[in-house]
Amino acid sequence: MDMKITVLKGDGIGPEIVDEAIKVLKVVCECENINLTLDEQPIGGVAIDKTGDPLPQETIDSCKSSDAVLLGAVGGPKWDALPTDKRPEKGLLRIRSELGLFANLRPARIFPELCSNSPLKDSIVQSGVDLLVVRELTGGIYFGKKGSEQINGEQSSYDEMRYSEHEIERIARAAFDAAAKRHRKVTCVDKANVLETSQLFRSVVARIGAKEYPDIELSNLYVDNASMQLVNNPGQFDVIVTGNLFGDILSDEAAMLTGSIGMLPSASLGGSGFGLYEPIHGSAPDIAGKGIANPLATILSVAMMLKHTFQMTMHAKVIEAAVEESLSVLRTPDLMPAEEEPAHSLGGYITEVFGTRTGLETAT
Ligand code: NAD
Ligand code: IPM
Ligand code: MN
Repeated sequence: MDMKITVLKGDGIGPEIVDEAIKVLKVVCECENINLTLDEQPIGGVAIDKTGDPLPQETIDSCKSSDAVLLGAVGGPKWDALPTDKRPEKGLLRIRSELGLFANLRPARIFPELCSNSPLKDSIVQSGVDLLVVRELTGGIYFGKKGSEQINGEQSSYDEMRYSEHEIERIARAAFDAAAKRHRKVTCVDKANVLETSQLFRSVVARIGAKEYPDIELSNLYVDNASMQLVNNPGQFDVIVTGNLFGDILSDEAAMLTGSIGMLPSASLGGSGFGLYEPIHGSAPDIAGKGIANPLATILSVAMMLKHTFQMTMHAKVIEAAVEESLSVLRTPDLMPAEEEPAHSLGGYITEVFGTRTGLETAT
């Protein structure tokens, strides 16, 4: 079997965390005799520095000819003064859109080893956090018309938020399909008491649910209430389906429930097997280059890649188990180190556990 992955390391801690994750991907391929081709391409700030464009055509072409994309993070203070459409972040938004990756799955669950790292009280954490944010990724306010102009002698700016039925239908199906494989509960999060787009979102999700997924429980929450419920009673959630902006915000909040934003992976999918896999956090310029960034979200993103693009569910599970095991041995400072170990050994550690576990499994 051949596997071609485009690797977009990006900026800040991007290269450090992706290098760790690649170690894990390589051991999986060795173990299964997969012929792995990695094509590294620039995106974000590094691409701007190299070519003037946060998403060069060559990068797009490479992604389109790959089975999947592994991405680190983009952005940083060096490029913060650039106008919105020239910034590193624009490269990320464009690649998601160019590749048609409308469904962003962001799973948040607490590993038992990290219960005491969650900022929430034990009584709340122990009621269980295992939820999936399904975020619409290629529409809404992120992709609406925007502008800035002088009106009556002052600057005035706008960002249009627009959703069409077909965009909501497909993200609703992605959420219901995910719920069907989990605990069969979907919560639609919106601001339907204020926004037209949210009214449409809510009604289309309800229509798809009633017609196509009658045995999946559907409820609704306004986004302000949902953000409160996430910290007060996170155990009530299974799948949350929401628009682009609300999903961005709620997934950082959900990430922190698990102990660190450095723990949350994501898959961006478009309905085919192809996907882009990245941690949900950013380029963390404050810790870049120090060797202390947590690579587990990126390693878990490799597990999501194996599961969603390559149907290698067993391998994904072994990686998740190895990540869990690493937590009682080796931690990065964001998880309050059990021992002062540098982050760069985590990929190596997980690689070893993976080898041992798969070796044991093939032997039996
Ligand atoms: P951030 O997620 O980069 O960092 C927020 C905080 O979390 C920082 O204190 C950082 O040190 C910490 N953190 C993040 N990831 C970590 C990890 N793996 N291990 C340990 N600590 C970690 O968010 P920000 O500071 O708001 O943004 C920084 C830059 O990243 C900005 O340019 C922003 O636009 C960009 N960004 C990119 C992405 C992406 O590429 N997907 C996502 C979010 C933000
Ligand atoms: C994320 C990030 C991006 C987003 C930014 C960097 C464009 O915050 O992946 O969560 O808002 O989608
Ligand atoms: Mn974000």
